[in-house]
Amino acid sequence: EKGGYKHFMAKEIAEQPGVLADALNHYLASDDSGLALPAEVDFTGVDRVTLVACGTAFLACQVAKYWFEQIAGLPVDVDIASEFRYRDPVLSPKSWALFVSQSGETADTLAALRHVQGKVAKVVSVVNVPTSSIARESDLALPTLAGVEVGVASTKAFTCQLTLLALLALKAAADRGRLSPEALAARLAALRNLPGVMNHALQMGDDVARIAGQLAEAQDILFLGRGQMFPLALEGALKLKEISYIHAEGYASGELKHGPIALIDSHVPVIVMAPRDALFDKTVSNMQEVMARHGQVLLISDARGVHEAGDGIWASLTLPEVDPMLAPILYAIPAQLLAYHTAIAKGTDVDQPRNLAKSVTVE
Ligand code: F6R
Repeated sequence: EKGGYKHFMAKEIAEQPGVLADALNHYLASDDSGLALPAEVDFTGVDRVTLVACGTAFLACQVAKYWFEQIAGLPVDVDIASEFRYRDPVLSPKSWALFVSQSGETADTLAALRHVQGKVAKVVSVVNVPTSSIARESDLALPTLAGVEVGVASTKAFTCQLTLLALLALKAAADRGRLSPEALAARLAALRNLPGVMNHALQMGDDVARIAGQLAEAQDILFLGRGQMFPLALEGALKLKEISYIHAEGYASGELKHGPIALIDSHVPVIVMAPRDALFDKTVSNMQEVMARHGQVLLISDARGVHEAGDGIWASLTLPEVDPMLAPILYAIPAQLLAYHTAIAKGTDVDQPRNLAKSVTVE
């Protein structure tokens, strides 16, 4: 049932281009002219979106905040489900609350969903298990269509969550008159290309395995990102600590000098996730601050980024260039592969990491 792979996680990482293409076939018009979301997905008159989830699903929500705000101009709150209802959130009756969960059974996410019922205009869920409690109790359940995910570390569910959230942000932008049909068509064409681009990214397994052999020796590893790559830095760190048991933290690149830079010495690998986008130069200057303190930098970028900023770095991974909006979906692949190969090098149980359960049904 692992289809020739050593672990479910490896199989599920490799399945991503296929399941992503399936999800796009489901949610895009067959002639690529537009979106094919259910008619109820209409953001006209919606004044705010509250996104709630746990763990990796929460990090998908954090990426989506950038999309909803930058592309659709729609204000977004993002909360960890276990914190949400205890802060007495102020909810607008014109707002939507959106719950993201692979299993659809996470106790805190379900409790948060019940907390908003009757207080918002619509309760929407983005779930991988369509028969789950969260799907059943929401006004509208949108399946992520990743297929069954067995590995405890979420991989294909994350990229499918991101893809669906990207489509929702584009729909919000179109409904709010912020996106011309041409601009929407260009973004959808880029999305249609993404499975092929991901296939390309999956080829770097050998390079990653070589780098991971050295990461496996580290005590602490930092991930840095700026803008929508900040949540990806958090996801890279979460995935790595979860399955390799190496202490890892993700930081917003600009936050480094406010404390965490004190951790940097020649023993600390620092993984910088930075496509050559509008924020690249700022991230590179943070990366140079790390190098000045002898931190070992692994730069994950595209060919232009590695060419422009690669001097003096320890290692690099080169990804294809994509529409900047879609970079978080693509950069999930090296984050997953680094965690996987580092765990393999350490000999830990990749599919069943200690102390963790696939579905967390207690609060
Ligand atoms: C990390 C991971 C967890 C889950 C979290 C939420 O790899 O898998 O952080 O993302 O427990 O689970 P769901 O999405 O089922 O609500």
